[in-house]
Amino acid sequence: MDFIDLLLLAKDEDGNTLSDEAISAEADTFMFEGHDTTASGLAWLLYNLAHHPHYQERCRQEVRELLKGRDVEEIEWEDLSHLPFTTMCIKESLRLHPPVTAVSRRCTEDIALRDGRIIPKGIICLLSIYGTHHNPDIWPEPQVYNPLRFSPENSQGRSPLDFIPFSAGPRNCIGQSFAMAELKVVTALTVTRFAIRPDTGRPPVRAGKTLTK
Ligand code: HEM
Repeated sequence: MDFIDLLLLAKDEDGNTLSDEAISAEADTFMFEGHDTTASGLAWLLYNLAHHPHYQERCRQEVRELLKGRDVEEIEWEDLSHLPFTTMCIKESLRLHPPVTAVSRRCTEDIALRDGRIIPKGIICLLSIYGTHHNPDIWPEPQVYNPLRFSPENSQGRSPLDFIPFSAGPRNCIGQSFAMAELKVVTALTVTRFAIRPDTGRPPVRAGKTLTK
């Protein structure tokens, strides 16, 4: 049974099936929020590893040591929590190149800021994930790709709101664990089989992306 089958068969508590419009909206959500984002995250991760061969090699060694002779095709769910350096590389890539650069919220009540200013009810606020991830007060030399920012010792004292590639709060990304798993599996499969090198003749150009609610 695939995703569309699940939607076609879904029923609410009164036994009603989803309308065609609702099925189309669900499919759009998963294609845009679940596919495009992961593809962008993966592309930038491979780009960063290509530009930093020493980090790429550390990921390769980490995966090989974990597998201890098993074929990489046999990588299991359980293995994914034993790739600390690769996870640091992924997080640093999501910091430097967040696939979703901003989210927005309409205030349902007045919000008092620490300095006493008020954001009035009804105002739509645009929250910059890209800006947060490039704030030099939190991330010194923000343009530098440095996975060690995410080592346990360097992460101490940092607020969870300093790193928000999947947003935060009750409407944050429902697919973040799945996305992290996908990124780890693809990295493991790729670095154990290929050496990734940059195509310096065609530098990538970033396109902005905002999710609005
Ligand atoms: C690297 C990959 C991904 C990134 C960076 C990402 C990021 C985000 C962000 C920033 C939001 C907005 C939350 C907000 O407005 O505060 C979001 C929402 C969402 N994401 Fe992801 N996402 C990723 C992968 C996925 C995957 C794999 C799925 C599904 C399998 C998924 C499903 C969703 C859904 C359904 C929402 C809407 C949640 C809601 O409105 O309550 N995402 N994601």
